[in-house]
Amino acid sequence: MCGIVGYLGSEHDPKDVILAGLEKLEYRGYDSAGMAVFNGNQIERIRAQGKLIYLKNKVQDKKFTGPAGIGHTRWATHGKPSESNAHPHQAGVIHLVHNGIIENDDHIRKQLKAEGVTLTSDTDSELVAHLINRAYAVHKDLFLAVKSVLPSLKGAFSIVVICQDNPQELVAFKDGPPLIIGIGQGETFIVSDVAASLQYTDKYIYLDDREIVKVTPQGVKIFSQAGIELRKEINQISWSADVVEKRGFSHFMLKEIHEQAQSVAQALEPHLNEQRTGITLAHQLDGLHFLNHNNQPEIVFEKALNDIDRVIIVACGTSYYAGLVGQYMIEKFSKTPCSVEVASEFRYRDPVVSKNTLFISISQSGETADTLAAIRLAKSKGVKTLSICNVKNSTIDREADIHLYMNCGPEIGVASTKAFTSTLTVLSVFCIEFSKAKKQLDLKSEQQWVEGLLALPSQIEVVLAYDKYFSDASDALKKYHGFLFMGRGVMYPIALEGALKMKELTYLHAEGYPAGEMKHGPLALIDEDMAVVMLAPRDELYEKTVSNLQEVKARGAKIISLGSGDDENLKSLSDRYLAIPKVSSWVDPILAVIPLQLMAFHLAQSLGYDVDQPRNLAKSVTVE
Ligand code: M6R
Repeated sequence: MCGIVGYLGSEHDPKDVILAGLEKLEYRGYDSAGMAVFNGNQIERIRAQGKLIYLKNKVQDKKFTGPAGIGHTRWATHGKPSESNAHPHQAGVIHLVHNGIIENDDHIRKQLKAEGVTLTSDTDSELVAHLINRAYAVHKDLFLAVKSVLPSLKGAFSIVVICQDNPQELVAFKDGPPLIIGIGQGETFIVSDVAASLQYTDKYIYLDDREIVKVTPQGVKIFSQAGIELRKEINQISWSADVVEKRGFSHFMLKEIHEQAQSVAQALEPHLNEQRTGITLAHQLDGLHFLNHNNQPEIVFEKALNDIDRVIIVACGTSYYAGLVGQYMIEKFSKTPCSVEVASEFRYRDPVVSKNTLFISISQSGETADTLAAIRLAKSKGVKTLSICNVKNSTIDREADIHLYMNCGPEIGVASTKAFTSTLTVLSVFCIEFSKAKKQLDLKSEQQWVEGLLALPSQIEVVLAYDKYFSDASDALKKYHGFLFMGRGVMYPIALEGALKMKELTYLHAEGYPAGEMKHGPLALIDEDMAVVMLAPRDELYEKTVSNLQEVKARGAKIISLGSGDDENLKSLSDRYLAIPKVSSWVDPILAVIPLQLMAFHLAQSLGYDVDQPRNLAKSVTVE
């Protein structure tokens, strides 16, 4: 949730590196920001409540010599957003930034207070700074001080620490939220996301849980919590720095909506066979492999898939809704039972899984705490796990047995857009391969489906024309006090996703419903201030959806309908009609969600809200 940047080096001004890094990490949390940087032999700490701009204003005339510094952008967990709760936290000679949660904070707080320690914030983070400061008084060594404190901390957390006594050292620890070491020429970065330092280096070491890092001008040393030095692989990242820029768009979200023609193609490309008429998942780069005991890919994929007799998909938020679309596809085509569950529920049940179950986790960030806990639970039950992630080498990606990638490039807008459509593409590709392995999909049907997927980029370009439409229509949409999104079959998860986009961006009440459920309660909500968004493409449930539409129309709702091509029937029943190209119903969801993304974006814009950083949210939810 929070964003961390640590820097040690003489190549750049630490203030500039930290501010540039925090700007890229602001999507992770934006209720306060701060930095602590060496200036001569003194650490100066500057913090500000609110967005990063307030910190920038405070430090704009300051110069720091470095070489070490740490910075943080916060998403509040313990203690309200305020300057005193902003990071870095200081205790004696120690300055610390922290991401995650210390679960035994009550106990530590009582202990410190009993010892007469004065606390200046409500955070769990400050407590850790005090513990390290106390340990440092004994060890006189920052690394040993941090290491000695770790056994007394419970929770999932990452920290980066500097000490007033040594401007040439950073110490960091990860157990949960991501920390990545960027290796530059004569400089080192410790960041929550590679986006924060891509402009300086493309070489990264991914820390695993319970690893401690000591950074000095002599280099980076990584140890296990027991103190054993580890050899870690340096990964070269192929993303260039400009993929995390807005490239002329007003907002990251708008840029990401517009990237979908390309990102859907990128998601599909690695899995196309040579003739581009079918799917070959197994031997593609970044494709689907089972790893044997020597960590080598084994070509047993088709057999392994054939043995699977149940699929469980687990995810949160938008990724969960993508999973629901996957369920419709997988059951329909592979004839294999598939259930989908929200990760925060799955992890606390005692789910029954058999050894032939395939567990699929979906996570754009690959760091969502509940999804990670769910995959760990599944693994503990001996089940094969497959992850669909966007961020390669993220924790969930690394923990899964089998890896598929959304391939959509960094998604910065807090509201997920292109990751959703890329996930639907990857789920389609998986479903094709799985259904073939189950001998349920013939060559002709596979070819037709692949043709549909290949045609998507040009059809997405057509649907993106709704950008202008909603830019003009958004003022009129402001008068509705709520939105009900409805659909049937595979359009039901799209209704849920449309409602989620609407609520997280516009703060208006919005709900997604299966259209057939209306009579069982929600019809009571209908009046002329309620807008009903009815998703009714020409699929096998079209007639039924239209009769549901008539029911809400009869009760006075304002109707925005979405259908296939020039549907005169829908047009005549609706106040506004949105057309998506007529295609096979299995690519409909990818096209149908795009106007809903644009509607939420423009309505939020016209209401004057911050679209890229909606209130109370953060992009990567690394705490429960
Ligand atoms: O990174 P993940 O896909 O695991 O994130 C899951 C949700 O937190 C995320 O999709 C969230 O619902 C988005 N803000 C929705 O736009």
